Amino acid sequence: MNQYIGAIDQGTTSSRFIIFDAAGRVIACAQKEHQQIYPQPGWVEHSPLEILRSTDAVIAEALVAANLTARDIACVGITNQRETSVLWDRETGEPLHNALVWQDTRVDALVAYFTAQSGKDAFRDRTGLPLASYFSGLKLRWLLDNVPGARAKAERGELRFGTIDSWLVSHLTRSQHITDVTNASRTQLMNLSSLSWDEEMLKVFKIPASVLPRIVSSSEVYAEIAHGPLKGVPIAGILGDQQAALVGQTCFEAGEAKNTYGTGCFMLMNTGTRPVPSAAGLVTTVAYKLGQQPAHYALEGSIAISGALVQWLRDNLGLIHQSSEIEPLAASVADNGDVYIVPAFSGLYAPYWKEHARGVIAGLTRYATKAHIARAALEATAYQTRDVLAAMEQDSGIRLAELRVDGGMVVNELLMQFQADILDVTVVRPRVTETTALGAAYAAGLATGYWKDTSDLKRNWGIERRWEPAMAKEQRSRLYASWQKAVARAVNWVE
Ligand code: G3P
Repeated sequence: MNQYIGAIDQGTTSSRFIIFDAAGRVIACAQKEHQQIYPQPGWVEHSPLEILRSTDAVIAEALVAANLTARDIACVGITNQRETSVLWDRETGEPLHNALVWQDTRVDALVAYFTAQSGKDAFRDRTGLPLASYFSGLKLRWLLDNVPGARAKAERGELRFGTIDSWLVSHLTRSQHITDVTNASRTQLMNLSSLSWDEEMLKVFKIPASVLPRIVSSSEVYAEIAHGPLKGVPIAGILGDQQAALVGQTCFEAGEAKNTYGTGCFMLMNTGTRPVPSAAGLVTTVAYKLGQQPAHYALEGSIAISGALVQWLRDNLGLIHQSSEIEPLAASVADNGDVYIVPAFSGLYAPYWKEHARGVIAGLTRYATKAHIARAALEATAYQTRDVLAAMEQDSGIRLAELRVDGGMVVNELLMQFQADILDVTVVRPRVTETTALGAAYAAGLATGYWKDTSDLKRNWGIERRWEPAMAKEQRSRLYASWQKAVARAVNWVE
């Protein structure tokens, strides 16, 4: 009898394999970081082969830790950092280049070119997305144009393109070239209504259709794993990581939303079976498609740098030795000392979409200490979330009663209280905060009948902790006004 579900969570900084039971509890977890490669300012790459190696390693490690074998795992779901783009040889499986990571801004000249031609929002109707360096279609275009011989090979049908979900499935099954609708909706090549590759977009971006994977639903049995310790176990769910967190938080009703604090920070609101266009700078995206059921859509506020700012203070400035030191350091001062950090390392995403914005630390005086910088770094995430929530309320017409949170940073109580204060909204943390992996497990388990339906999953969700807003209105307004001034500095950096 198969009792558990496995989830591969291939994120921006690490790969994990988590084993869940039917109640959504974590039975075992293994995690491995991979190298971040920064060839020049604004460029970010990963080694696709290192990602495969670390994924294989964490699968084996978690199984050993839990003393389980393939027979104990009913099926596997995959969730992944989205938009990160890989191009590989169809025959040998060798990547032609490092993966271009979602945060990479090297396609900014292409963005400027298409924006000058037709405006930043020219493709929103078809794809739900503004022109930005973030999405994978233009990254593929860059690879085809810049890797010697790539375009000719692609025209001959010798290459395969995929986001990390496709790359993992191709490796694990040794046969399938597929991507799920949520990942496909981040390419800017998929038509949001038909859920198939959009011929007009392929023409405009000069992408040969032969390199693209087949688009599948987020929850169905795709194929069995062909090798390794999970040989014979079906892969039955694929979701981009932010959509997976929405599913893991069981936000299945229109109007339900979650905010995930990881490398970046991503707020998604389920808008039901209808794509809602954004006028306030959000993106419209596919939330999930469970088998044959109609797709659900979401409005998304994408923030590129959140936990990554804490890592930057650790790795680039040496201000702290471990990420966990940020909270006590920030809590050692009463306030930010008028210091604001706008971490526009990859430009600014929602709701601004400014490729050329760059990070600023504003408001420095001789009074400021590293504790104020630490505090400003945490607050940056909360302010960016407020920017996004305001856009979300404007687009959806829904005032959020409470915000469901998850992701690595939600252990930070100082941040969670400040988040509630600066939003003037209650923040709630669920019992299981591994919602990303859990969402992928749910998608897989629904496909194989391990869970009956979404009401089964809703029973697994419960609140562990809530934070109520406790800040005076005047203070909230004063702080937010200073944040907005700092954002203007970041945006004006090159303008
Ligand atoms: O769109 C990028 C997003 O999928 C990355 O997520 O959790 O790796 O920050 P994360």
